[in-house]
Amino acid sequence: MSRTSKRLSDYAERHYKKVDGWLGPETISQVMTINACQRELGIAGHVGEIGVHHGKLFILLYLLADGTENALAIDIFGAQDLNVDNSGKGDLAVLTHNLKSYAGETARLKIISGDSTTLTGEDLTGAAGGKLRLLSIDGGHLARIVRHDLNTAATSLGEGGVVILDDFFNPEFPGVGEGTNQFFLFDNGRAGEKLAPFLIGMNKVYLTTEAYASRYIDHFCRKDLGRPFASTIKFNTYAARHHAVFVTELFGATVLAYSPDRFSLGYRLGRSLKAKARKIRGSLGDTRLGRHLRNSRLGGLIAQLANRIAPY
Ligand SMILES: C[S@@+](CC[C@H](N)C(=O)[O-])C[C@H]1O[C@@H](n2cnc3c(N)ncnc32)[C@H](O)[C@@H]1O
Repeated sequence: MSRTSKRLSDYAERHYKKVDGWLGPETISQVMTINACQRELGIAGHVGEIGVHHGKLFILLYLLADGTENALAIDIFGAQDLNVDNSGKGDLAVLTHNLKSYAGETARLKIISGDSTTLTGEDLTGAAGGKLRLLSIDGGHLARIVRHDLNTAATSLGEGGVVILDDFFNPEFPGVGEGTNQFFLFDNGRAGEKLAPFLIGMNKVYLTTEAYASRYIDHFCRKDLGRPFASTIKFNTYAARHHAVFVTELFGATVLAYSPDRFSLGYRLGRSLKAKARKIRGSLGDTRLGRHLRNSRLGGLIAQLANRIAPY
């Protein structure tokens, strides 16, 4: 194993836990899968993040970039009076210290220190050295900022590039959904690449340039469901090793949604308990025993337990 891939696996498995910020194992796995898909499809480009805080996700992106790809960190850093919605607190000294600790060097680090709403896609590609293939959006969480950052992404991504949009499903930051809706209603395709969502994972939504969405979906289907995308049926649920995966729709595009509620063994047991209870209830029908069980305390308790473990 090369030194870089050892650093990557150490960071993805353990070291990320030592960096302050917001990143879990599901997101790490999903970002790494996207990276693998890009390698398979021959998609190259720089990586970057708007809103880096102490670099928890940024370090992963840095480690995924190869020797010719730069990593662009954008944050207001010391100008925290511009952090209008109080999300995180970028610190350039901590970021570079963390990057040195876990990536071993900062040679490919590029920095834009400033408010993302003053930036254009050209500013990003200029600072990075070309088009981006991975861009995380996790800066200001107000609607106007998110809408702006999505437009910046659309004009800085290369074909097949991916936007990792944070907090779309976080009730603490409704502005992210609001800004994204505005982008899809009014802006998408007007300048730069037309974007489409392809994956929902935890509180994140992943977008890519329209023609590539089905390729990412197919990659995830083959990896996690052991079948091609073409063999799935829309609005059905499939079991992956640790998740339930729904084939559904967002902004008119097909997306895979990985359910955070369905990871646990308890959830699976609850669902199978529920299914068995339904079957027994069906076969007993409207018999005396069936009515008795339905109205009994035991029947009620089983139903309650199954609902608590598997509410959907
Ligand atoms: C939630 S934190 C980012 C967390 C980070 N992605 C991680 O992996 O832990 C939000 C970051 O966005 C920065 N920020 C807030 N408003 C911004 C703006 N308008 N432009 C650029 N950065 C901004 C904050 O300083 C903070 O570091």
